[in-house]
Amino acid sequence: MSRILIKNIKELVQVETEIKKKVVGEDMKTLPSIKDAWLAIEDDLIVDFGKMDDLEITDWVGLEILDADGKMVFPSFCDSHTHLVYAASREEEFVDRINGLTYEEIAKKGGGILNSAKKLQNTSEEDLFNDAWKRLEEIRKTGTGAVEIKSGYGLSVEGELKMLRVIKRLKAESDLTIKANFLGAHAIPTDYKEKRSEYIDLIINKMIPVIESEGLADYIDVFCETNYYTPEETDRVLQAGIAIGLTPKIHVNQFTSIGGIQAGIKNNALSVDHLEVMEEQDIQDLIQSDVMPTLLPSCSFFLTIPYAPARRLIDSGLPVCLATDFNPGSTPSGNMPFVLSLACINYKMTPEEAVNASTINAAYAMGLNETHGSIAVGKKANIFITKEISSVAFIPYSFGSNNIETVILNGKVEG
Ligand code: NIG
Ligand code: FE
Repeated sequence: MSRILIKNIKELVQVETEIKKKVVGEDMKTLPSIKDAWLAIEDDLIVDFGKMDDLEITDWVGLEILDADGKMVFPSFCDSHTHLVYAASREEEFVDRINGLTYEEIAKKGGGILNSAKKLQNTSEEDLFNDAWKRLEEIRKTGTGAVEIKSGYGLSVEGELKMLRVIKRLKAESDLTIKANFLGAHAIPTDYKEKRSEYIDLIINKMIPVIESEGLADYIDVFCETNYYTPEETDRVLQAGIAIGLTPKIHVNQFTSIGGIQAGIKNNALSVDHLEVMEEQDIQDLIQSDVMPTLLPSCSFFLTIPYAPARRLIDSGLPVCLATDFNPGSTPSGNMPFVLSLACINYKMTPEEAVNASTINAAYAMGLNETHGSIAVGKKANIFITKEISSVAFIPYSFGSNNIETVILNGKVEG
């Protein structure tokens, strides 16, 4: 058995004695913590924690002791929305945007998602795996302990299955907790522009049965957006996924509000993601549901599109989750601390709200709230120890710096 004691922790953040499903509205401002604390880990689980004054050790056998004097301990971030398996970067589109083209204009001339699909066609499973592995290593160092990864750059039977098999191998080999989301309906492939329902038939009749037989996905996603998939098409794809046990987690309201949120609610989506453009009705409908609103501020930052109305959502009593959207087109970064900075600066979320949104609420958005997202007895020992820092607020305040010194995943110290 491996046993670790972390002692003299300046502040142990996001502690829970009773496990919450999510943190909602006004409560998001509260971040429970213990100052001058200790934390005990056995194998891959958190087994106890408390105040240093109350620490009594009777059994020192095989106990590894880490001294966190001046340092803080957080539960690892959960990044509930990424597309981090991809074949190549797309900095040429970045330059196109600098020169005045919009994301939509670039997509119309064959760039965007279709560009990534073309590049993926000629890339081997091995190369995709190795590149994605490097990205996982990078996000591990910035505090991510669980990550959702989507397909969606295949847009053909072979391409989508290739991506999902890569994600399955990442799941098996990585110390990060990984969930797979099938996003066959990410864009309409060029050859199907005039016969879009045939592509949807392909998703339903050719991709989904293999996904079921090989156990390739946990979730089903659709990009419900003008020029991509309509709410009716979204509904059709989601129903087919639900029929094989997948839970919807979908892209909606990035550029237009066309009924994607309602399609998500109707199909009991775990989360609806993006939400840059929100009508009052969308907010009212979400309030009546259990769907987690998920915001992606680094996508707004990178594309210079409006920021989601996070304050309006929280002040209306909703929970919010924060994620990166790591992908080659709209967010070439998986850096969660930077997402927290953007949320504080541009959404006007408090640091406490930002931590709640990226831990407990993000675990909810990944179906992991019983095992991840907080410091609680019996939860996974997925945590990070910071460098010496002054407060929780220092993390989003010192944007661009990596304040993380030690990462522990599944109870293993990873450096
Ligand atoms: O979440 N909005 C749709 N999909 C991705 C972008 C994909 C791309 O541009 O490659 C997103 O932003
Ligand atoms: Fe996305």
